[in-house]
Amino acid sequence: MINPIYSPAPGRYESGIRFRRCGRSGILLPEIALGLWHNFGDVNPFANSLEMTHYAFDHGIVHFDLANNYGPSYGSAEETFGQIMKKSFAPYRDELFISSKAGYDMWPGPYGEWGSRKYLMASLDQSLKRMNLDYVDLFYSHRFDPKTPLEETMQALVDIVRAGKALYVGISNYPEEAAAFAYRYLKDRDVPCLIYQGRYNMLNREPETEGILDQAKEGGVGFIAFSPLAQGLLTGRYLDGIPADSRMAKGKFLKPSALTPQMHAALVKLSEVAARRGQTLAEMALAWCLKDDRVTSVIVGASRVSQLEDDFKALENVSFTAEELAEIDGIVASTR
Ligand SMILES: NC(=O)c1ccc[n+]([C@@H]2O[C@H](COP(=O)([O-])OP(=O)(O)OC[C@H]3O[C@@H](n4cnc5c(N)ncnc54)[C@H](OP(=O)(O)O)[C@@H]3O)[C@@H](O)[C@H]2O)c1
Repeated sequence: MINPIYSPAPGRYESGIRFRRCGRSGILLPEIALGLWHNFGDVNPFANSLEMTHYAFDHGIVHFDLANNYGPSYGSAEETFGQIMKKSFAPYRDELFISSKAGYDMWPGPYGEWGSRKYLMASLDQSLKRMNLDYVDLFYSHRFDPKTPLEETMQALVDIVRAGKALYVGISNYPEEAAAFAYRYLKDRDVPCLIYQGRYNMLNREPETEGILDQAKEGGVGFIAFSPLAQGLLTGRYLDGIPADSRMAKGKFLKPSALTPQMHAALVKLSEVAARRGQTLAEMALAWCLKDDRVTSVIVGASRVSQLEDDFKALENVSFTAEELAEIDGIVASTR
């Protein structure tokens, strides 16, 4: 049977999604974005990728986050998304906010990673082709390159916007000092940095402790948290061992060594706090990031629709009492 043509849920913006303004900009972002780092590659069933993106858009999650090398194989998550654009999303392009990035290793040789103009320009052209797009809404420098003059990387971002290939630009994984330079450079050229993307969750608090959150807020730059569930650790996934189909079982990006007895005990306690709030651990972990108005949005990953359903429910309660926060801090401290 030929699959019917996709038509999105008419109530997609009334299903509980909320939008927050991204820094001092005209852009509103959904509190939850869907990231395609894992589970959307050419090793994954296309039907599942399609189902997850449809579910997201049907619930007002209009922001899809990609990068050149998401897969595996490298580039294949963008290709998957390109197929979904063609098949389902093309009529809704103006409702979507699509981001991609370049910075990590993508192709062999000296021009396939880091922060040169040569790499960023070529990589974005490739990404646009793979995704069947004329432009991305947001293009990131994916990591700070200590060996390339930052002026070169930033000027490439400026020129990418001027060439109409991206509407906005952002930075990811930059140390504070480099971020300060980037914000200044971009602002002086009338291409202000829209957003900073950093790892932030109950277990990884560097953006808070290293001043990245405050710096972004002061600079009128949004902040989007990646791996808000610590790659699945902050969910019910590992409370009873390591499921065969989990990211930890694959062992590449989330290693079984992360699940120490102390960590396991802490996860059990955190899920008890969550249960008292009427939430799952995953819901509480996302709510914990979103309690902070310096955070514009969280980018979740998922391997199935049921996870997105759960994650989405986090939006029902994103406020915490001082006692709950203190209890969470105490539990997290016990893992260190
Ligand atoms: N800028 C950067 O350098 C950078 C780095 C990393 C990520 N990112 C972005 O951030 C996105 C999210 O990162 P991430 O995938 O690490 O995020 P995450 O949301 O912390 O972890 C996602 C994983 O958690 C599990 N999960 C999600 N919801 C669940 C639920 N309700 N119950 C049980 N398990 C659940 C799934 O694991 P299983 O697969 O095991 O089912 C899923 O793949 C990426 O796709 C990417 O767009 C950016």
